[in-house]
Amino acid sequence: MGGQEDRPPERPEGTASGRLERKAPGRLEGQVALVTGGGDGIGRAVVERYVREGADVVVLERDAGLAKAVEAAHPGRVAALAGDVRDPAAHVAATQCGLDVFGRLTVYVGNVGVYDYGARLADLELTELSGAFHELFATNVLGYLLGVRAALPALRDGGGSVILTGSSSGSFAGGGGALYVASKHAVVGLVRQLAYELAPDVRVNGIAPGATRTGLTGVGDLGGDRRLRDEPRSLDGIARTVPLGFVSEPDHHAGLYVALASSEDTGFVTGAVWASDGGLEVRGRRHPARPAREEGPR
Ligand SMILES: NC(=O)c1ccc[n+]([C@@H]2O[C@H](COP(=O)([O-])OP(=O)(O)OC[C@H]3O[C@@H](n4cnc5c(N)ncnc54)[C@H](O)[C@@H]3O)[C@@H](O)[C@H]2O)c1
Repeated sequence: MGGQEDRPPERPEGTASGRLERKAPGRLEGQVALVTGGGDGIGRAVVERYVREGADVVVLERDAGLAKAVEAAHPGRVAALAGDVRDPAAHVAATQCGLDVFGRLTVYVGNVGVYDYGARLADLELTELSGAFHELFATNVLGYLLGVRAALPALRDGGGSVILTGSSSGSFAGGGGALYVASKHAVVGLVRQLAYELAPDVRVNGIAPGATRTGLTGVGDLGGDRRLRDEPRSLDGIARTVPLGFVSEPDHHAGLYVALASSEDTGFVTGAVWASDGGLEVRGRRHPARPAREEGPR
């Protein structure tokens, strides 16, 4: 005898039981995402979760050190470019990077934003106001428009989807100053108009995080040298305004970006902005500097 029948059944390598232990496929297997601001904060959390779910990721990030670090953390799965979202050429390069390195682009996550640290209109000189407006809107609004426009042909080819990071400041006053709040309301307008214009080829949705412990920075004199996560007193104050009672971490939002990128999960969702803010909608906000009134309207 000595034929094949006598040999013990072959065991797949690396398994004691002989059962084939395949990794469950991720929800984003085969997808290629471009994430702006993916070097830190919410963008970095999205990159980590996307990689875990099987996507390859291109990162466009202003800070060259952060860009290098996120790429080094995921060899062969993340390609990062140093560039500024206010620069049209940076978006062209990032889209091209997705096509060159990973062969396609299926998800665009516009995520870079800067804050105004609650600067009140009455406190701003006109020239300061003008300078801050241009920097903040060029980053928070124009940056998204440029990114979606540059990625659009590739997204159309890939049957893709756009996800924009908004904010609870896209729905409520009081979480920033007039510049930031207006810019995040503008993001809601972008989601709605682009969902309308790009249907049926490309779905467009938004995530609206509430207060999150990140290094979110301001513009110029309006907190250009500040980092939200370094301000425990502000964060504690914010936590007291949130129904769930805590300030979120970037990872609390990342799963929503996975869901919106997956047409299996959200293929009939476009033009939506999902809140991830600890329940602000159920309470609203009063301006903290105003004492409560004892009488009704005058
Ligand atoms: N942190 C919060 O409390 C909070 C709440 C609601 C919404 N958001 C929004 O989340 C998004 C991400 O912010 P975050 O809190 O993670 O901040 P973050 O500063 O931690 O991350 C932003 C990343 O973008 C990069 N970046 C900044 N300006 C850039 C530019 N011009 N070009 C390219 N890259 C640039 C930064 O280097 C950083 O890596 C923003 O749109 C912000 O408005 C933040």
